[in-house]
Amino acid sequence: MRTVYVNGEYLPEDQAKISVFDRGFLFADGVYEVTSVLDGKLIDFAGHAARLQRSLSELEMASPVTSEELLAIHKELVARNELTEGLVYLQVTRGAADRDFLYPDEDTAPTIVLFTQAKPGLADAPAAKRGIKVISIPDRRWGRRDIKTVQLLYPSMGKMMAKAAGADDAWMVEDGAVTEGTSNNAYIVKGNTIITRHLGEEILHGITRAAVLRMAAESQMKVEERSFTMEEAMDADEAFVTSASTFVMPVVEIDGAQIGTGAPGKVAARLREIYLDESLKAAV
Ligand code: PDD
Repeated sequence: MRTVYVNGEYLPEDQAKISVFDRGFLFADGVYEVTSVLDGKLIDFAGHAARLQRSLSELEMASPVTSEELLAIHKELVARNELTEGLVYLQVTRGAADRDFLYPDEDTAPTIVLFTQAKPGLADAPAAKRGIKVISIPDRRWGRRDIKTVQLLYPSMGKMMAKAAGADDAWMVEDGAVTEGTSNNAYIVKGNTIITRHLGEEILHGITRAAVLRMAAESQMKVEERSFTMEEAMDADEAFVTSASTFVMPVVEIDGAQIGTGAPGKVAARLREIYLDESLKAAV
């Protein structure tokens, strides 16, 4: 049985409890982070901790722990669960208060929960060798996607739509341009240029995205941060997505049309290799 962390305590998962009045449960009034673990070490922890602080401050929510304490909790949970390959999920909510749309008093204690998910073979995922298939769907999420909130119903519906269509995931489209995948950032490659949506309130500022774009630039690859259309995507030489749980994952089919040769592209494969290599070296 897993050991999970709830509000200062490490508990067996079946003894961990939060209130029915928790605002995360009642209002999706909470934020989260997912950090991957390879070789028992945390990948890009500093980036995830920094984004958590930003999400909290955008929502005027108090941080229950410092970044140092957060790192210590992550490490302790990885150790207690003997996690070598997988994910650490972290959620902070505004805490439990009688149901009211207005935020509760500032002395209401936030809720903090962390748990691990073992994913053996995460780095060596067969899907990375095959590539994944995506469909396009309209982006029907709220307008502050740069805040990593736990309101994931539409992304969840998107994954179900993809599954029903025999695909692996969905890319969301708004005003004629691709925003991002349901739980990842989206990229196309045309010639030797990597194209991905610019940052703004329309997408999550991916931690893997930031690292991959930095590594691409260091490897003299050309990067354009701008909107792209589905037509451009279907006509691309390559496509891929990035996230903490998939790293760099090639996309080989979009809305039933084969991308490039229909096999994972060279740029995606190279970036996956560089990302795994570099981030493992920097892992804590
Ligand atoms: N999702 N865009 C969205 C909408 C996401 O939910 C995620 C991450 C990303 C990629 O961000 P990062 O590189 O920091 O993981 C982009 C996580 C993995 C999840 O919800 O499980």
